Amino acid sequence: MIKQIDQYLEEVNNFSTQDLKEVEAFRIKFIGKKGILNQLFAEFKNVPNEEKKVFGQKINQLKQAATEKVNILKAALENATDDNLTGLDLSRPGYPVEIGSRHPISLVKNKIIEIFKHIGFNVSEGPEIEDDWHNFTALNLPEYHPARDMQDTFFLQQNPDWLLRTHTSSVQTRYMESHQPPIRTISPGRVYRNEDISARSHCIFHQVEGLYIDKGVSFADLKQTLLYFTKEMFGKSKIRLRPSYFPFTEPSAEVDIYWGLETETDYRITKGTGWLEIMGAGMVDPNVLRNMNIAPDEYTGFAFGMGIERIAMLLYQIPDIRMFYENDMRFLEQFKPVL
Ligand code: PHE
Repeated sequence: MIKQIDQYLEEVNNFSTQDLKEVEAFRIKFIGKKGILNQLFAEFKNVPNEEKKVFGQKINQLKQAATEKVNILKAALENATDDNLTGLDLSRPGYPVEIGSRHPISLVKNKIIEIFKHIGFNVSEGPEIEDDWHNFTALNLPEYHPARDMQDTFFLQQNPDWLLRTHTSSVQTRYMESHQPPIRTISPGRVYRNEDISARSHCIFHQVEGLYIDKGVSFADLKQTLLYFTKEMFGKSKIRLRPSYFPFTEPSAEVDIYWGLETETDYRITKGTGWLEIMGAGMVDPNVLRNMNIAPDEYTGFAFGMGIERIAMLLYQIPDIRMFYENDMRFLEQFKPVL
């Protein structure tokens, strides 16, 4: 009798299957109403007294082993079927994925960077809190130079030599300090000017400035680069250069593109002329090169700078510059990528 139970125990311990139906058959065989265990329990009264103790222990052991085996196999097989996703409808739509949107300033900035990367420009960055040298003096704007008034400046109270950069030309001076020509770099970044806030201007805005210095760089190279840029950026390649003045470039020009006069909006944004100013540019003034220890008789270069907001307003027809900084979801969500 005891031997028989030991055999059952071995059978239970060795039992294994991948099939839930076999587990059920196993359960019925051992723990079912008319199963082996109940039969053994019924036998109990016929067992001689001196064997009762061992017999009792053995059937309890068998009962425990069989119950455990059933539970473990069931759990394992049920989990496995979950993993295989059987019983799930795989054609149902998934949970909606919330995609964010890039800020229009970033969209335009990235596009400008992309365009200039294709013609060999790298990207340089610098601090937003600048010293006077990098923002003004090195750029041929010595103290008391009247042209400093072109860019109303926020100075830091702690130290009047420190200021919030008024243009990213300050990054270019830093770049020239640490690099020798050939230099081909664009400097995107946030700039600050102490100006009244209105629909057209803000005290904080963003620029991308470019600098190209090498042997034999001419105004024709500047013009060709600008043509390439406007074509890539706006799909329009009619530009004009109007003589202008910047202390750090000579000659200097303001760059207009011909936007056209096809729609009412075109009339409004170009004030009825069809032309639109998009940036300042010019040949780097020899004084600037000298300040940066670059020999002006050996090297020449051009520089240009544009406001990102201005271009974004044009491209996306945004009527008020303040909308860029309000973080109104209704505004930002309009720039979600179309999937
Ligand atoms: N730094 C000028 C500005 O912020 C733009 C500019 C850059 C003009 C380079 C000419 C050359 O207004």
